[in-house]
Amino acid sequence: MDKLIIRGGRKLSGEVSVSGSKNAALPIFCATILAPGLHEISNVPFLRDINTTIKVLESLGAVVEGNGHVVRIDATNVNNVEATYDLVKTMRASVLVLGPLLARHGRARVSLPGGCAIGARPIDQHLKGLKALGAEINLTHGYVEAKARQLKGARINFDMPTVGGTEHLMMAASLAKGETVLENAAREPEIVDLASMLIQMGARIEGAGTDTIRIQGVSELSPVSYRVMPDRIEAGTFMIAAAITAGDIRIANMQLEHLDALVFKLQDAGVDIINKEGVVRVKGPKKIRSMNIKTRPYPGFPTDMQAQFMALMTVADGASVIAENIFENRFMHVSELLRFGADITVEGNSATVKGVKKLSGAPVMATDLRASACLILAGLAAEGETEVSRIYHLDRGYESIEKKLAGLGADIVRVKE
Ligand code: EPU
Repeated sequence: MDKLIIRGGRKLSGEVSVSGSKNAALPIFCATILAPGLHEISNVPFLRDINTTIKVLESLGAVVEGNGHVVRIDATNVNNVEATYDLVKTMRASVLVLGPLLARHGRARVSLPGGCAIGARPIDQHLKGLKALGAEINLTHGYVEAKARQLKGARINFDMPTVGGTEHLMMAASLAKGETVLENAAREPEIVDLASMLIQMGARIEGAGTDTIRIQGVSELSPVSYRVMPDRIEAGTFMIAAAITAGDIRIANMQLEHLDALVFKLQDAGVDIINKEGVVRVKGPKKIRSMNIKTRPYPGFPTDMQAQFMALMTVADGASVIAENIFENRFMHVSELLRFGADITVEGNSATVKGVKKLSGAPVMATDLRASACLILAGLAAEGETEVSRIYHLDRGYESIEKKLAGLGADIVRVKE
């Protein structure tokens, strides 16, 4: 197993380029099932979660090839309708093949994903939506079995805005008969990206990016070439890397407007952010000001940036309160941050972080993807050496982050444990 060794204290400088979005690419890959033929997806990040999705698609009969950043998916022979536990357990998002398989073949059998490190993460809203489209759903032996001769459009009101649920129903409804209306839909940019791809495939979708999405079903979709949007969470992580090291960096290939909630907080905390001709310059102050945040569905503050923002607040001037409202167990990084000498107390879904003068490097363990990023950020700011182990979580969602940070002047290396 690999680990990262970081010697903190260097101010970051220079330019870094953001990879394609993991959370946009995953549903986009699943959407290829909807249209037989050859799809070409570009700006694909080179990540373990992408490899898992490729394995899932191959297990269903797709032929996948490519060099990492451009992936060609021939969905012509997707004739197997079962996604097994072995594949789904390693990545929850693979459950998103259920709707597309059902829409194309009238049946599907997909392992029910279990809970994960950050929460129980049920898929009841996905199943409620598919049922509303006329699917018969049975849960047996840990699998979801779904059947429907022809999905039929329906009005679906989500109990909460769910990113995966909205994506799942948008895909399935694209091939349903008649109109589907998704209410209380999630509004994340990744949903808009998936909708753009589906529209290019021939789907009739309006309102993606708002809380009401209307889909007029069509009888067939065509394969496409599609470029995945930049990863807003990777971009946000680099912004905090600049802020926490009092650095001055430029970030290319990012869409700043996807990160408004973070940008406003960082600016209020004293960070300079200038968007010039598509490259964003981020300059950290000598001392960051403390800021309270509450995670919310988009356009609120993203839960996927909560851990990284907390790392920043550990060295802020004053105390901040960080409330996590999306996932019930997303504070696993707190006990690791304490090992750096951070001052944090947790009560329920709220963490109070009192800024300390300096963090001191320590051996720490990553518990999930964004927690891994949080520990790296703390390591960059800390005095002395930090060792981050269990970084396989990191490899699920950040493409070569240690190389990108080293390119900005960080002292960080990957070693075999
Ligand atoms: N929820 C339900 N029932 C459902 C669906 C969701 O109760 O049927 C709950 C969840 O348990 C959670 C909340 O609703 O409390 C929101 O979950 P959502 O469905 O929006 O999350 P997701 O689709 O499972 C995606 C991202 C996550 C990101 C969340 C929230 C992908 C592949 N994953 O998950 O990304 O945190 O949206 O923005 O898109 C990450 O990248 O590190 C990550 C965890």
